[in-house]
Amino acid sequence: MSTLIVYAGKYGTTEKCVKTLATKINDPVEILNLRQEAVPDLAEYDSIIVGGSIYFGQFQQACRQFCREHSAELMRKKLGLFICCGTFEKSDEFLKAAYPAELLEHATAKAGFGGELDLKSMSLFDRFVARMVSRSARKEGRSLPSIRWDEVEQFSAAINRQVV
Ligand SMILES: Cc1cc2nc3c(=O)[nH]c(=O)nc-3n(C[C@H](O)[C@H](O)[C@H](O)COP(=O)(O)O)c2cc1C
Repeated sequence: MSTLIVYAGKYGTTEKCVKTLATKINDPVEILNLRQEAVPDLAEYDSIIVGGSIYFGQFQQACRQFCREHSAELMRKKLGLFICCGTFEKSDEFLKAAYPAELLEHATAKAGFGGELDLKSMSLFDRFVARMVSRSARKEGRSLPSIRWDEVEQFSAAINRQVV
């Protein structure tokens, strides 16, 4: 049994979540960055996990394309789907917009892992937007985005669960 995690992100949050998730999965795991690497033959894997981040309400294009091109095969696998986003409360809404309905229905695990705003690594424009988001969150007494490690934990537990 082996698992492939495919992901796409911009500033490292998704990658961080993927690396931690990989350590929590019982089967051997391979990781694929969709923005940098070609997709291997999916027949080699029993489980596939797909994840990516949200920018301006939109899911990573590379993840959308992967799901579109491989949906028939994904429907035959144990499947996990996640997103990373700054507004954790909107996770369900983003998940529904990000993934095709039949994949969401088929998935063993689906979750929002939260997000981060790491200003240091951002482009000028993204930093400007992130500063505005942080400022308005502070003003309204909302907490700044953070990774929800409990969600990562629950997600891995669902993937590890044996089907009898
Ligand atoms: C320019 C910009 C736009 C963003 N837009 C959204 C958004 O529309 N909704 C949301 O919940 N989070 C939004 N975020 C937060 C990101 O989803 C969050 O920073 C996430 O951790 C990014 O993951 P990545 O580094 O793997 O790409 C935005 C962040 C930036 C910098």
